Amino acid sequence: TGGVTTIDPGFKNTGSCESAITFLDGEKGILRYRGYSIEELAEKADFLEVAFLLIFGELPTKEELLKFEQDIKEQSVVDDDVKKIVDAFPKSAHPMGVLSSLTSALTAFNPSSVNVDSEEDVYNTVCKIMGKFPVLVAWTMRKQKGLPLDYGDDSLGYVENILKMMFKKPNQEYTQNPILVNALDKLLILHADHEQNCSTSTVRIVGSSHAGLFASLSSGISALWGPLHGGANQAVLEMLEGIKEDGGDTKKYMAKAKDKQDPFRLMGFGHRVYKNFDPRAKIIKKAADEVLADLGIDDPVLDIAKGLAEEALSDPYFVDRKLYPNVDFYSGIIYRGMGIPTEMFTVMFALGRLPGWIAQWKEMRNRKEPIGRPRQIYIGENLRPFKSITER
Ligand code: SDX
Repeated sequence: TGGVTTIDPGFKNTGSCESAITFLDGEKGILRYRGYSIEELAEKADFLEVAFLLIFGELPTKEELLKFEQDIKEQSVVDDDVKKIVDAFPKSAHPMGVLSSLTSALTAFNPSSVNVDSEEDVYNTVCKIMGKFPVLVAWTMRKQKGLPLDYGDDSLGYVENILKMMFKKPNQEYTQNPILVNALDKLLILHADHEQNCSTSTVRIVGSSHAGLFASLSSGISALWGPLHGGANQAVLEMLEGIKEDGGDTKKYMAKAKDKQDPFRLMGFGHRVYKNFDPRAKIIKKAADEVLADLGIDDPVLDIAKGLAEEALSDPYFVDRKLYPNVDFYSGIIYRGMGIPTEMFTVMFALGRLPGWIAQWKEMRNRKEPIGRPRQIYIGENLRPFKSITER
């Protein structure tokens, strides 16, 4: 057994590292990036400022932010051969699978990104991925819609340009609609980091072998894809749609969620760390109301979502297990209101989480963390002699 006497499935009680990036208090519903509260950052900062803060440790000065924005723009071209990889996928391919593949493929077109021996190497590699990732996200969506893979408009801001590349609406006001831009900017900030969650731990452990940043990010995207993690935002909308199609009977689905024989879970509820409320969910719920009202959208699934949340908050099964709406519960309702396809919701989560993954990978490399290699308790067969095929 290699000296191990106990194991900790899902690492529920295991700390993997020391980190100075994000602070969570699950009991009090506190989330801070580098000491700043998520409430203040969502209200007063923009996504690129928060990305700089997470990755480099301080809020940028005006000059630093302008340079970061310019350096990212200069790196936002993706090798045209990457389009051949996009073309090779069937239209039915899930966008998370496409995004993970394209992110890993970036290494082939940027081999120098693997060597991060100096701070300058790191900075250049960070700008490369911050510039190219939104293009991959947009191309992933356009592939699904059978639309041309092209670029946006470099004169636009980072988030505006993402909307421009994704939608390419002829009418400028759509992609530069301040309601949409502010909503997306806030959503990306709220998703930007969350300490040692499943996908971030994946990025850190893959990076601990000194695999390149893009390969480590590609692994994180795959981990995020799962419906228990980032994939939950897609699963929430599919669940809400199902309840709506089924007549909107939320009590029936609450009962299913409590029935141990039924594999159904109330997607968007519960959290490993937050045993009270997810502070992000509170902000996103408010934003959902504002965005849908501003866009003049009356989405019945929002009412179903609110009904479920109210019922769960007073149901002993959920209260005893401290199951409250999490970040994924309301976010999809906003994405849908913005015209983003359901299968792209987790890609939007990855777009937000990118700076957090980068920051955590950089911290792990800067602190020269050892390669991740846990032990086990062996429960298999004892030594036994080989049997020839005629004896089996
Ligand atoms: C994210 O870790 C992070 O920080 C993640 C994240 C981030 O920013 O990176 O916050 C993003 O992934 C949010 C979570 C999104 N996932 C979902 O919404 C999927 C539904 N929720 C779960 O499956 C679950 O709540 C987890 C995965 C979020 C947490 O799982 P845990 O901590 O391993 O808890 P558990 O599965 O052991 O559940 C404890 C109890 C069990 O009942 P008992 O066996 O004690 O009787 O609560 C029940 C579970 O059956 N339970 C649920 C439930 N979630 C837990 N029952 C019904 N519906 C649910 N959603």
